[in-house]
Amino acid sequence: MDSFVIEGGRRLEGRLRVNGSKNAALPLMAASLLTDAPLVLRDVPRLADIANMARLLTELGVEVEQSENAGDDAPRDFTLTTRSTDESHARYDIVRTMRASVCVLGPMLARRGQARVSMPGGCAIGERPVDLHLRGLRALGANIELDGGDIIATAPAGGRLRGSTIFLGGAFGSTVLGTANVMCAATLAEGVTIIESAACEPEIVDLARLLTAMGARITGAGSPRILIEGVDALGAADHTVIADRIEAGTLCCAAAITNGSLELENFPLDALLAVVDRLEAVGVKIEPIDNPTDADRLRRVVRVTSDRSLRPVSVTTQPHPGFPTDCQAQLMALLCFAEGNSVVTEKIFPDRFLHVAELTRMGATLVRQGATVVVSGVKELRGAPVMASDLRASAGLVLAGLAARGTTTVNRVYHLDRGYDRLETKLASCGAAIERRKESES
Ligand code: EPU
Repeated sequence: MDSFVIEGGRRLEGRLRVNGSKNAALPLMAASLLTDAPLVLRDVPRLADIANMARLLTELGVEVEQSENAGDDAPRDFTLTTRSTDESHARYDIVRTMRASVCVLGPMLARRGQARVSMPGGCAIGERPVDLHLRGLRALGANIELDGGDIIATAPAGGRLRGSTIFLGGAFGSTVLGTANVMCAATLAEGVTIIESAACEPEIVDLARLLTAMGARITGAGSPRILIEGVDALGAADHTVIADRIEAGTLCCAAAITNGSLELENFPLDALLAVVDRLEAVGVKIEPIDNPTDADRLRRVVRVTSDRSLRPVSVTTQPHPGFPTDCQAQLMALLCFAEGNSVVTEKIFPDRFLHVAELTRMGATLVRQGATVVVSGVKELRGAPVMASDLRASAGLVLAGLAARGTTTVNRVYHLDRGYDRLETKLASCGAAIERRKESES
């Protein structure tokens, strides 16, 4: 398994483009199951999770074409066309590699009248149940059974789901992929569906935009109440994936932790206001440098710089528009260098703290109690071999390595490769001393 070797202490300076969003692209790809017409998706990032979703869709009868002409560094365009509906079983082999596979459930059920999807297990960040997905699909009239570790979903007699009013909130708030599943399923249901306590994440808004372009009737996406009027069929669409707000937030922390200066293009400023708010409280400046009159608010150009002395803050992760759990580890790495005590509380995945023990090995002073970590700032971190089996925790460790004294080796970077498209190349192009060491070389 590859690792990253980082010599800390280099200031980052330069210009980078934020990729298309992984978490938007996965449900967008799954929406191809809702129609036989071709779906073109542009600016899809080159990631292991995207390759897994492409493999899963291929097994489910979707032809997946990727743009040929793009260079190695260019994002990909995908054309997805359903060619066969014979195979409706998302097998354990693939689902276990990627929980997001569950987002094929709603589209497949709505279009084919049945779906069999291996029940996703827990993962490094917690239990991650899918009860809300199933509650939503049941409310649309689906019969749901569990057999051999698979979810078997069947539409009512006649093969069509029925619109309904569904409360989709759970103990930890709304569910992003659950909302995606139910919203997709409702587009082809008979009658009107209202999803109350829907996820408001920008990825849901992007999915609603795609579905609307395909002919769906959806209002309210981005608010907690989404209304969907079912239609008989959906058609072709050509859609550009929104920019990845989590990659953008990670790069902001990278600039700040190295006391650097980065210009970031394709920056989804409007989707990141909670992150900007906390970073500004720490002493990080994020200023738009494009022309505000003609700028798309989700594709700005910003300059990120930081004060030499960073201030401690309190931060609590929440569903959007609150501070995203997917940026918690990266902010914690930065807060290790603040002058004083910060308090980080995780309200989405209360056990998502795999980075805590590893940062401690690098000299951080962290005290965890339940879902809260008190971060007492230190003068320096020291390089060390570290590892974390969560994508964002690994990103936090890379950031810590960029700022630490000496050499940090981040092991098992395949977790990072699931969500960041060659992060090391991007960081190195701005002055970081970071190298990928292939498994065979270590
Ligand atoms: N939950 C339930 N029941 C459900 C579904 C969720 O109790 O049926 C709980 C979860 O256990 C969690 C909370 O609700 O406590 C929110 O989970 P959600 O369903 O929103 O998470 P998800 O849709 O499975 C997506 C992202 C995650 C991101 C979360 C929260 C994708 C592919 N994944 O997961 O991204 O952390 O939303 O914003 O979109 C990542 O990219 O590193 C990542 C983990």
